[in-house]
Amino acid sequence: MSATVLVVDDEDLARENVRETLTDAGYEAIEAGDLSQAHKYIDEGAADIVLLDVMLPDGSGLTLLDRIELENPSPPVILITAFGEVDTAVEAMKKGAQDFLQKPLDLERLIQAVEKAHEVVALRRELDMLRKSTTGQVEMVVGKTPVMLQILVEAERASSAQASILITGETGTGKNVLAQAIREMGPRADKPFIPINCPALPDTMIESELFGHEAGAFTGAQKRKPGLIEIADSGILFLDEISSTKPEMQAKLLQVLEEKTFRRVGGVKEISVDIQILAASNRDLKAMISEGKFREDLYYRLKVLDLHLPPLRDRIEDIPALVGAFIRQLNMRTGNVVSGISPRAIEALKAHDWPGNIRELNHIIERAMLFCDDETIDLGHLPPEFQNTQE
Ligand SMILES: Nc1ncnc2c1ncn2[C@@H]1O[C@H](COP(=O)(O)OP(=O)(O)OP(=O)(O)O)[C@@H](O)[C@H]1O
Ligand SMILES: [Mg+2]
Repeated sequence: MSATVLVVDDEDLARENVRETLTDAGYEAIEAGDLSQAHKYIDEGAADIVLLDVMLPDGSGLTLLDRIELENPSPPVILITAFGEVDTAVEAMKKGAQDFLQKPLDLERLIQAVEKAHEVVALRRELDMLRKSTTGQVEMVVGKTPVMLQILVEAERASSAQASILITGETGTGKNVLAQAIREMGPRADKPFIPINCPALPDTMIESELFGHEAGAFTGAQKRKPGLIEIADSGILFLDEISSTKPEMQAKLLQVLEEKTFRRVGGVKEISVDIQILAASNRDLKAMISEGKFREDLYYRLKVLDLHLPPLRDRIEDIPALVGAFIRQLNMRTGNVVSGISPRAIEALKAHDWPGNIRELNHIIERAMLFCDDETIDLGHLPPEFQNTQE
């Protein structure tokens, strides 16, 4: 599939030259001679890829880059700098540009850079198709880093195969968000989705909660009660923080996974179920296996597909798009009119270590919007520990 490249350059001749090269290579090209025209195209969502000259008559191309990075999805940007402007190129890469080229343009290098950007765009298109066929959660999964796009594509394939999926990652990396997205992408979207927060279930309750019980199975069990596994039949059972389950429970879960049958507490009859299992853990299950705390056979049953969400500090390129998404969500919820965030505030956010990952980022933006009576979130709206990260 072809892609549309927005060429932003104030020199007519240079622009035409680039356009010709691009159209010869099979791309569509649209042109802007200044920032304001380029902004219009970006607002319309007209560009899949942006080729951006830095020096423009109405300002620096870097400001447009800041604006683009808040979009979700944001088109990959290839920056064009004057010869020797290494600092600008470095700054642009930090801001999230995909690549940079120096003038005079080497047209072969140009096509290579555009082709690489095109691969990213193609992967996103696959996801967009998916998003259109779902009702919103998939859209929630913001991320343009290749690792995130890869996770979504793999999740999509596994969800249509209805295989068991194990989602791992530190706290706040989006395991619950991803589990919901997987549900929406797969054929069980309108079937039951039963989340079980394993640590919240007391040991004494977990068995009857999961498997249900027959009347008279134990004191207080007056009536037969179906368990969550039975309720999840034909749908998805989401075992959140599976690492906290005890060995006896692990053995029982293994049986459900292997034989697709179980017995109610106090019951003799084998009941068959058709459930897809998703499990999540923020602990290292492999380490728990070697310590003898988690069954290896259960682990392999669960991870027909293993999706590992990277910590936010390893995907800081996603910070602007996440911030943009949170600002839009919070504006809607609170009626605020915050329109953006300053580049130095973004820099400060990128320099943070994010032990609480995306959840922590969400809280920081929520707090900033409370303090912000302006249109733009700035450094001063962030907590004190963010203020001294500037050199
Ligand atoms: N990819 C994402 N795009 C947008 N928002 C996200 C994304 N991932 C996570 N979030 C936000 O971060 C918050 C935390 O995500 P989630 O609850 O899924 O994390 P978790 O990995 O399950 O954490 P825990 O291990 O503590 O249960 C969510 O409420 C959501 O606002
Ligand atoms: Mg969670």
